[in-house]
Amino acid sequence: MYTSLIPLAVIGTIWTSLFTFKVLNFIWIYFLRPSSIKKYHHNHIHSSAPPWAIITGASDGIGKQYAHELARLDFNIVLHGRNATKLHHLRTELHDEFPHLSFRAIVADASKSGPESSKHIQEIVDTLRDLHVTILINNVGSGGYRDGTVYAEIQDTEPEDIDHLINVNARFPAQFTRAVVPLLLSHGGPALILSMGSMGELGCPKLSLYGAAKCFDMSFSRALRREMILAGRDHVEVLGIMTGSVTGVSHNKSKATLQTPDSGDFARGAFQKVGCGEDVVAATAFQGLVWNMVRAMPLFLRDQSLISGIKRDMEMRAKLAKKA
Ligand SMILES: NC(=O)c1ccc[n+]([C@@H]2O[C@H](COP(=O)([O-])OP(=O)(O)OC[C@H]3O[C@@H](n4cnc5c(N)ncnc54)[C@H](OP(=O)(O)O)[C@@H]3O)[C@@H](O)[C@H]2O)c1
Repeated sequence: MYTSLIPLAVIGTIWTSLFTFKVLNFIWIYFLRPSSIKKYHHNHIHSSAPPWAIITGASDGIGKQYAHELARLDFNIVLHGRNATKLHHLRTELHDEFPHLSFRAIVADASKSGPESSKHIQEIVDTLRDLHVTILINNVGSGGYRDGTVYAEIQDTEPEDIDHLINVNARFPAQFTRAVVPLLLSHGGPALILSMGSMGELGCPKLSLYGAAKCFDMSFSRALRREMILAGRDHVEVLGIMTGSVTGVSHNKSKATLQTPDSGDFARGAFQKVGCGEDVVAATAFQGLVWNMVRAMPLFLRDQSLISGIKRDMEMRAKLAKKA
């Protein structure tokens, strides 16, 4: 009789051990381990050229905070955006605060596609060949349609908006990464590619295109990580940041909460995860917990939770729009 219970005991022990490992790993990653981002702050092996980071979508929101954090860490920075004036202001702001560092701006509209746009991306990246680039942050992204609409059903979406969302959130990051990777590999030293995902990838109603495009980003990032390992380039870290709602960004200036951190805290949280060994990780413990819990839910609960989350957000946006 007792021998028939052995398989159950074995399964129970394995399950408990895995669960304990997951809990301890969570505590280690989100509360205890120090970031290893400083290892990307190295001079060129064959010269004293200082390290540079490239940030896409740097002119606002989280990207702007990434720029401030990297400057605090003493990195020179290439700021990408679509608005030359906004980039100029940010460059001046950074230069005033960090006069010992250098800042460059590159302009490219991520919503464009086709051979001309890919050529333009390659051309602007070619202007950076003199730099010792050790970090690429694929931050550019937006859930907004061309007119700013965020939530819409697929049949109410213009074909041009489908292209717009896929271009900004998936095509541009892929084309840009393709162009920048040779710079990251050229020096043979440690390099980091950090990309922004979204919990929208869990399949939120009325956000189908944005969520699907952000899912592309994380799948791309995971595959790139393994591509580096397969090629023996373990010194190149590829990390995806799973992102929930963040405030202090272009579309949300509400008060920060545990669930919706401020973009500055979010950026610091993301950098704290550098070197954690995961392929995709959340920037804050709360968002990490939510992400893991939603994925572990049975489907009917996940449906309810994602549908009610979108309803709440739509109501909040409607209230904010009325006030404005
Ligand atoms: N905030 C959130 O709640 C949240 C949640 C999940 C994921 N994310 C992800 O986090 C990243 C940053 O988002 P955010 O909230 O910080 O957004 P944000 O405040 O709107 O900033 C987006 C940045 O991307 C630039 N950008 C937008 N469209 C562009 C285009 N067509 N061409 C070139 N640049 C363009 C913006 O330039 P301009 O200054 O010219 O507008 C800005 O610099 C995105 O990848 C987003 O998907 C954010």
